Amino acid sequence: MLPNVCIALFLALTLAAQAAQPSTPSPIAAPLRDLPWGQLNFLHTTDSHGWHAGHLQEPSYSADWGDYISFSQRLHEKADRTEVDLLLVDTGDRVDGNGLYDASEPKGRFTSEIFKEQDIDIICSGNHELYKKKTSDREYLETVPNFSGNYLASNIDIFDPESGDRVPLAQRYKKFTTKNQGIRILAFGFLFDFKLNANNTIVQPVSQTIQEKWFQEAIRDKEVDLFLVTGHVPLRSSEFDLIYKAIRGQQWDTPIQFFGGHTHIRDFSKYDAKAYALESGRYMETIGFMSISGLRRGGRASSKLISGEVDLSTINASPTFSRRYIDNNVFSFHHHTSLNATNFATEHGRNVSSLIASARKALRLDKQFGCAPADLWTNRAPYPSDDSIFSWVQEMVLPDMLNDTDHPDTPKLVLMNTGALRFDIFKGPFTLDTAYSVSPFAGGFRQIKNVPFSIAKQLLRILNQEVSQLQQVPEQPLRAKEPVSLGQIETLVAHTESASNGRHSDSHQVPLAADDSKASPLTPGYTTSDDAGNDGDDTLHSKIKFYRVPNCIESRINFPRSSNSLNPENKVDDPETVDLLYGDFIENFVLLALRFLGTDYSTGDTDAYADGQDFTDILTKWVNEKWAGEC
Ligand SMILES: *[C@@H]1O[C@H](CO)[C@@H](O)[C@H](O)[C@H]1NC(C)=O
Ligand SMILES: *[C@@H]1O[C@H](CO)[C@@H](O)[C@H](O)[C@H]1NC(C)=O
Ligand SMILES: *[C@@H]1O[C@H](CO)[C@@H](O)[C@H](O)[C@H]1NC(C)=O
Ligand SMILES: *[C@@H]1O[C@H](CO)[C@@H](O)[C@H](O)[C@H]1NC(C)=O
Ligand SMILES: *[C@@H]1O[C@H](CO)[C@@H](O)[C@H](O)[C@H]1NC(C)=O
Repeated sequence: MLPNVCIALFLALTLAAQAAQPSTPSPIAAPLRDLPWGQLNFLHTTDSHGWHAGHLQEPSYSADWGDYISFSQRLHEKADRTEVDLLLVDTGDRVDGNGLYDASEPKGRFTSEIFKEQDIDIICSGNHELYKKKTSDREYLETVPNFSGNYLASNIDIFDPESGDRVPLAQRYKKFTTKNQGIRILAFGFLFDFKLNANNTIVQPVSQTIQEKWFQEAIRDKEVDLFLVTGHVPLRSSEFDLIYKAIRGQQWDTPIQFFGGHTHIRDFSKYDAKAYALESGRYMETIGFMSISGLRRGGRASSKLISGEVDLSTINASPTFSRRYIDNNVFSFHHHTSLNATNFATEHGRNVSSLIASARKALRLDKQFGCAPADLWTNRAPYPSDDSIFSWVQEMVLPDMLNDTDHPDTPKLVLMNTGALRFDIFKGPFTLDTAYSVSPFAGGFRQIKNVPFSIAKQLLRILNQEVSQLQQVPEQPLRAKEPVSLGQIETLVAHTESASNGRHSDSHQVPLAADDSKASPLTPGYTTSDDAGNDGDDTLHSKIKFYRVPNCIESRINFPRSSNSLNPENKVDDPETVDLLYGDFIENFVLLALRFLGTDYSTGDTDAYADGQDFTDILTKWVNEKWAGEC
């Protein structure tokens, strides 16, 4: 038996009434856990990385930013009816990673217009907002004013592009009182100790920021009912730990709620009985819901009985904290709002969905390059294997596309970081959108010619194991730093049967019974385990197996065939020298590894391969040639 589970019955989701992007599959009926409403409630998004159109091939995450706007408006209506509060939080990395963001010139031309339509109460910057000057300037000139008063930058400064003056990217903190309950909140917005930002921004290490006068004064404010620490910071990090200890050093008893991000996982962490932290996944797969009850209100203990649901009269009792990870689809949204396809969407939400649809159209994101014959997984298949996207790139794409005719006889050894491939490929249309979600980072290959093979063949092992600096590389390209994390690793990408078949026929959509899962098997998806147990996900899913992949893969191209080619142990002979190719992002690591091996190669020995052609272009060319045709 599954406690606390409400069986959501099948609702007829007609195509016409759906607000999500037109080509998305309908969400699948599934057993759901209700939202644990409280006195103060939050919706949290993080690491959306441009996925504001939702996932067009995955029903579980098919709601778009417009649907999220409708959802939050409906929950606000409910909060107002029951006189509780609802706040929206976003903790950064809104940019990079999806065609809706990356395909425009300049990048983000459409997404910042779309994003600002949501009414977010506390918003902060991620590291991706700061890699390039253009991006952080846009953040400073557009996003900060668009979320005026709500954008917090506790430890980021920027050189104003007009005056050249060093100024805070946004205000350091904010104090406000909630609308319905009168809860006094003091909020911060942090970024982890990020170092690879462009030189027009300055990220102050958290250890320094917490010594600043303004911060020390803020945490001594006794007229505060809740500290709200938002940050593009992992929950189990030294940065949040320092902030937690600094606040607790001054206020041993005041409740603290943290919202974090960056590691792309669902996570909930207990720091103490009155301090908790929530992280809400990635790529618009998850809307985090958080509630706190039993908070003081403007110095008074709360005494209001909310709609008979939440008894807040227990003075002196420790506040209670509850979390829920909502799968981002309209089936979940309808359920949690007790509304349906007819009455759920708001006018504002619908408008934003159409705005997204027209942006996608203008960017031609549905332009098809070919048809993927099967699913290829980043982490849901072992590497190496036929289902692994990395094996596919290594065995097919790189050998076919990097076999330059300039040097037809030269063997090549190609090193590529797995983090450059960001997402799975689903059986079915391979579109411009697919290309950007799989390979969003502009970047091509560089080469060093005529490297002794005895040296080159050792690089993969070093890059994957021994260059300790690799561990300090940003989450951007080195996958091992990314979603791989303690205990949560099985909660990665969900993908349902229907993703490959397009829209589900109604005959598949029968009511599900939680205790009868054999009759209607659960769809695969997040099955999160966190500090509060295993009941965090709103949707009951079957577990997905998750496989760790190495930092880098190696492709050997045009190696001399062995005379003894029937022996699988000895298919090729060792060449004397190879042209060493590598993704340009990892150049420093490759050079470091080469030095580690006792050579003295430097940047002067390197040059762009194939005029630095983008890997995204290489990928789409391959698909165009090898997977041509309609699905
Ligand atoms: C958002 O920022 C842009 C650029 O400064 C401005 O044109 C626009 O009016 C702003 N919109 C809102 C809603 O603040
Ligand atoms: C940032 O670097 C560029 C060149 O890389 C340089 O021209 C510029 O002066 C630097 N800006 C600052 C604020 O240091
Ligand atoms: C949605 O709910 C309303 C009110 O209960 C009802 O009139 C309408 O028929 C429902 N629509 C669907 C599609 O179930
Ligand atoms: C939705 O769009 C229509 C047509 O552009 C406009 O008239 C209306 O004011 C918009 N409504 C909202 C709530 O944004
Ligand atoms: C690469 O090019 C060489 C020379 O043209 C050719 O012999 C070889 O078969 C090619 N390899 C691949 C994998 O296309």
